[in-house]
Amino acid sequence: MSEILMRFDPTGALGADLGLTREDVSRLDAPLAEVRSEILDVDLPLWEQKQTIPPSKQPLDTAFIEWPAELMSAYHQDRLNSELGRIIGAAKRLRDLVDRVVVLGIGGSSAGAMALMNACCQPYFNELTRAERGGRPRMYFEGNNLDNDSMQGLLHLLQHNASGDSLEKNWAIVVISKSGGTIETAVSLRVFLRALRQNASGSESLGQYVVPVTGTTGKLADLATALGCVDRFLVPEGVGGRFSILSSVGLVPAAILGLDIVALVQGAMAMNEHFRQAPCESNLVLDFVAINHLWEQRGASTRVLSIWNKSLEYVGFWYDQLLAESLGKAGQGALPLTTVNTRDLHSRAQQHQEGRRDKIFNNLIVDQWRFDAVRVGTSDQDQDDLNRLAQRTVPQMMDAAIRGTNQALRSDRRPTTNIHLPKIDEFFLGQLFQMLMLATVVEGRLLGINPYGQPGVEKYKKFMNEILNSAE
Ligand code: PA5
Repeated sequence: MSEILMRFDPTGALGADLGLTREDVSRLDAPLAEVRSEILDVDLPLWEQKQTIPPSKQPLDTAFIEWPAELMSAYHQDRLNSELGRIIGAAKRLRDLVDRVVVLGIGGSSAGAMALMNACCQPYFNELTRAERGGRPRMYFEGNNLDNDSMQGLLHLLQHNASGDSLEKNWAIVVISKSGGTIETAVSLRVFLRALRQNASGSESLGQYVVPVTGTTGKLADLATALGCVDRFLVPEGVGGRFSILSSVGLVPAAILGLDIVALVQGAMAMNEHFRQAPCESNLVLDFVAINHLWEQRGASTRVLSIWNKSLEYVGFWYDQLLAESLGKAGQGALPLTTVNTRDLHSRAQQHQEGRRDKIFNNLIVDQWRFDAVRVGTSDQDQDDLNRLAQRTVPQMMDAAIRGTNQALRSDRRPTTNIHLPKIDEFFLGQLFQMLMLATVVEGRLLGINPYGQPGVEKYKKFMNEILNSAE
């Protein structure tokens, strides 16, 4: 494949002065190549995996790797009836029916859609008129907490807009839960369904306004049947929650927002191809793992994703979950930390520059801004002393901040890397998500940790349920 790829530049993390050289990194080539083969060689059907894979490697949710190719092949064979075709069709139906969509889900069932919306939609998208939004519905996220006031706030907003033009007052629910039994999602669905029933006032079937994304069986699947949902989508077997952004879990909300979901999937396929073919040193996935892993061994147990474009902040939150839930096991796993700059230079830079030497900074940089560059410009009132910078633009100033911050960290022997996205679009985001998911799995195997499953999360649920069931 000859498509343009995002780039990874680890220069700021390498050098004799830092104590990590390219020669040190190349010593990891053989183990990394072995892990790559192991990951790519899993082509057993799921039922067979369950029988032949040792318990230490269960669950083995590797299906996210080949899922983009499966989606695309089905799309080429039968556009309308394939999964992608059905998602695009359902999104169009909703766009013609409602002006607001409430997405209910938590963890892997919501982080990806939030990242996609914030990255790809215009800033302040929900504030725009329907015409300015190109007819695409506003989108809100709930069910990702047990926050009474946030829930009430959204219910109030939906009710407040319940009069006037019928399309503008209409709203729908997309409810996403792989297990179909997560308490936060289930409670919010019950509450929002109650409000939806009042809003739809029996005119049409509620099933038109609720789109579930869940497993083949389970409580949510049963409820979807009872509601008569006209569009429903499956979370594919063998795709874990935090690895599901490029399945119906992320693609249904993305399509409703009018994003090019085919390009997202193609981006992931391009990254898969690169991961398979490229030699270690020039392999984005393997080099990213090697550098971060070797720095962790040298004490960099905090992995800062330093983001230089506000719209990618939720990509950072998505990655926080991916890394923390996948590798935070058996007393291991780096601590992920998302920062957005230059904002956080004014809150965290002091500690990053002079605090504990326990961090590596992976900059996430977008090479091309979406909109025209804003110029500082001249003013008759130069009390702010900015006329000296009158010809400069905001992107030029940002570029100076990135380079200046990297230089400052280097001058104190602190490691940085640069992940470059040529621009923010669905194709490059598809690459980025797939790169980070593959990297997390490779690193898990390198550490001897199963990156899938999250047994530790069950503990709080057990105690919480005991408390709820015993409370008066
Ligand atoms: O990564 C995971 O598997 C989790 O974060 C889940 O996505 C999260 O717990 C929500 O689960 P469910 O989709 O079953 O409601």
